[in-house]
Amino acid sequence: MNRPAMEGLRLNVPAYVKHARLIAWVAEVAALTQASDVYWCDGSQAEYDRLCAQLVEAGTFKRLNPELRANSYLACSDPSDVARVEDRTYICSERKEDAGPTNNWMAPAEMRQLLQSGDQALFKGAMRGRTLYVVPFSMGPLGSPIAHIGVELSDSPYVAVNMRIMTRMGRGALDVLGENGQFVPCVHTVGAPLAEGQQDVAWPCNSTKYIVHYPETHEIWSYGSGYGGNALLGKKCFALRIASTMGRDQGWLAEHMLILGVTSPEGKKRHLAAAFPSACGKTNFAMLIPPAGLNGWKVTTIGDDIAWIKPGPDGRLYAINPEAGYFGVAPGTNTLTNFNCMASLTHDVIFTNVALTDDGDVWWEGMSDTPPAHLIDWQGKDWTPAIAKETGAKAAHPNARFTVAALNNPVLDAEWDNPAGVAIDAFIFGGRRSTTVPLVSEARTWMEGVYMAATMGSETTAAAAGQQGVVRRDPFAMLPFCGYNMSDYFQHWLDMEHKLESLGGQLPKIFCVNWFRKGPDGKFVWPGYGENMRVLKWMLERVEGTGKAEEHLFGLSPGYGDLQWDGLDFSPAQFEQVTNIDKAAWKAELELHTALFEQLSYHLPAELQATKAQIEARLAD
Ligand code: OXD
Ligand code: MN
Repeated sequence: MNRPAMEGLRLNVPAYVKHARLIAWVAEVAALTQASDVYWCDGSQAEYDRLCAQLVEAGTFKRLNPELRANSYLACSDPSDVARVEDRTYICSERKEDAGPTNNWMAPAEMRQLLQSGDQALFKGAMRGRTLYVVPFSMGPLGSPIAHIGVELSDSPYVAVNMRIMTRMGRGALDVLGENGQFVPCVHTVGAPLAEGQQDVAWPCNSTKYIVHYPETHEIWSYGSGYGGNALLGKKCFALRIASTMGRDQGWLAEHMLILGVTSPEGKKRHLAAAFPSACGKTNFAMLIPPAGLNGWKVTTIGDDIAWIKPGPDGRLYAINPEAGYFGVAPGTNTLTNFNCMASLTHDVIFTNVALTDDGDVWWEGMSDTPPAHLIDWQGKDWTPAIAKETGAKAAHPNARFTVAALNNPVLDAEWDNPAGVAIDAFIFGGRRSTTVPLVSEARTWMEGVYMAATMGSETTAAAAGQQGVVRRDPFAMLPFCGYNMSDYFQHWLDMEHKLESLGGQLPKIFCVNWFRKGPDGKFVWPGYGENMRVLKWMLERVEGTGKAEEHLFGLSPGYGDLQWDGLDFSPAQFEQVTNIDKAAWKAELELHTALFEQLSYHLPAELQATKAQIEARLAD
C-alpha cells in the first residue's frame, strides 16, 4: 500500500498502520530528507536477524563467534562518535528562561530554519541514498497508564536494531497508537547522504552534530551522530529531556534513576529508585548480589537507568522502567563487579567499541586480570599488552557499550513489566566524589533531601565528550538530561511533597550516598559493588523505623555499629575515612553550592537558600 502517493517514493505503509497523522508525517520527513526508501519496522525477530545480517554485509557489524556469544555482534564507531555530545544538545523552548542556564538554547524558529526549512537546512536531502526506517516504540509496558509512545524515523539500521532491544518496538506500539493516539515524533539522521553509486562507510556520521528538543511540541531532531545517547532517541532525548517537561506539566517525574527491588530474609519486599550520574555504576547497583555475610537478602532489577514515576491515588509514587533493555558501559564489568550483568551478556548482545579477540569474542579493560595476548582494538588496530604499555592504547573505548534485553538479566524483577509500576519506598542520590561527601546520609525532611540532590556534585566520566574527572554540580544526576529550567525542576520536586501529602500518602525517604571516597594512597576505601548491600540494609531499616542513626550537619548517618559487618573486614578507622565530615571541606563545598545557586537564581526556590543557611549556621557553630 502507498498512502498518500508521493512522487518518486513509495511509502510502503503496511496495511495494519491506521494512523493518518503518522503516515502524513512520515511522508513529510521522507520528502524533506529525500530518503531513497521507507521501511516500517514490525519489531519481529525475523526482521531483527535480517537487519543484523544487512549490517554485517555493510561492515558495520561483525558477527561474533556463535559458540562463545550466540547471536551477538560487534560494531565499532567512527573514533569521533563515541559519546553523548552535551555541547551540541539543545533545548529549544519558546522562552530561553524555560531552558534555563544549564541547557544550550536556540529559539525554535531559528533552529527549525537551521535544521528543516532554511535553504541550507541540514535535514534537507540528509537521507539521500539511504532507507528511512520507521521505528514505532513504547516507553514502558505496552498500554501502561504510565507509558508513552514514540516513533523514530532514522536512516540508521544500527538504530533500528538497538531500538528493538532498548524499547518495546514494532507493531505492538502501533496497536496502542491506534488511529489517533499521541506519539512523540523523533527524527534522526547520521547526516551522511550517499550520492549515486557512492560506497558507504561502516559507521556513517557527520562532524556537525545537533541533538535538538522542542519541549513545547514534544519533538526531537537529531543530526550527525550514531552513538546511542545521541541516536536512540527513546532514551535520553525522550525518556528524560522531553518526558521531564511532560512530567512538569502533568504532575509526574522522569528521572535518571535505576529501580530495584530488595527482599529481606523474612520475605518483605521494598522498592528503591537511585540516581547516579552517567557511568557511576547504576547497572552494577541494579544487579547487586548481596555478600555472603548478608545471606537471605535478594536484589532484583526493574530498571538500570531511567524511571518514570507517577503519584497514585493513594499518595504513593509508582515507578516504571520505560526501557526494555540495558545500554551499559562495558569496561570495568566482570564477574566480580557485576556477575549478573556478565551472565546477561552471553547471547543476543550488540557490543559497540569493545575489542575483538582472535577467536571472535569480545574483551574490554577490566573484564579479566590478564588480557588476551592479542586483540583487535575498537579502532581496528592490533593490540597487545606490550603495545598498551608502550602507547597507553585502550583495547576498548572507555565508553564502550553493550545493548542487551532486560529479559537476559537473571535477576530481573517479576514486576519489571507491570503496567502499574512499583511503589517507591526510598530515593537514593549519589555522586562520584573522592573526598568530602560521606558514605551515606539520610535527609530528615523531604526539603533536606531535595537540597542534597539539588547540590550533588560528581566527577565527570567518559559517557560524555569532554574532560574527565573534574567535579561538576550534577543536580539529581539530571544536569545533561533535564528538559527545562533546573530551578523549576527543583520546585516541581518540592511541590511533589505537598501533592503526596494531600493524597494522604507516605513520602519515600531520601538518602545520599558516595561509594567513591579515596584514601591517602589514592585508592577507593569503600569496597563497593555487593558490599553496598550493607548500606542498603541500613536504609531499609530506617524505612522500617528500626535502624539507628546519628545526627550531623546536614542529615543522619549510621555509626560503625549500625551497619552489619559479617563477612567483611572493614575497620572503624576505615569507616571513619568514608564517613567523616571535614568542616573545612564542607565550608568549601558550600561555596560551590553558593555558586550553583547564583547560576540558578532565576526561579530558585527560596526554601533551598533557607536550607543552605541552616547548614551554614550549623557549620559555624
Ligand atoms: C547513559 C548515560 O548512557 O547516562 O545511560 O550516558
Ligand atoms: Mn544514564
